[in-house]
Amino acid sequence: MISIEVNGEKRTFKGFPFKRLIDVLRQDFGLMGTKEGCGEGECGACTVLVNGEPVNSCLIPVCQVEGTRIETVESLGRPASPNVLQKAFLEKGGSQCGICTPGMLMTAWAWVRGGGSDKPQAIRNVLAGNLCRCTGYQHIVNAVVQAVRDRKKIIRNPKSTIQNRKSK
Ligand code: FES
Ligand code: FES
Repeated sequence: MISIEVNGEKRTFKGFPFKRLIDVLRQDFGLMGTKEGCGEGECGACTVLVNGEPVNSCLIPVCQVEGTRIETVESLGRPASPNVLQKAFLEKGGSQCGICTPGMLMTAWAWVRGGGSDKPQAIRNVLAGNLCRCTGYQHIVNAVVQAVRDRKKIIRNPKSTIQNRKSK
């Protein structure tokens, strides 16, 4: 039996230990937000956070994440209360077809939450492993720039209007 913390909840998996993490998340835990693109570690669509670090869940067997803390896109906000990064994606047009978006959000969220820079080139470097066929990247970078700045405002002033709009 494999024990994992997923989005703050203790979960257990009993089955083939080399089943891919993405399949365990989607098929066994019902977390369909994580998407599969290439299935070969090239596109980043399947990115989740393992102990806070972005990883390609299509490449990892579930036995390798025993005892870790996993975060998927479901750990962010809800449609009625998007977190600061999701709100920025909505406002800046950072998502079109949406296939890359869950992975893009998770990689970007590790950056934003970790106090990363708002410099566009630094953000492009961080997102280099997440491919998007729709947006041309500029809208995504703009969204992450906004999220970095908005989160700093929230930290400085927890009662800011951004917070009042139910962003984390
Ligand atoms: S689906 Fe995992 S990297 Fe493309
Ligand atoms: S929004 Fe379609 S691949 Fe990125």
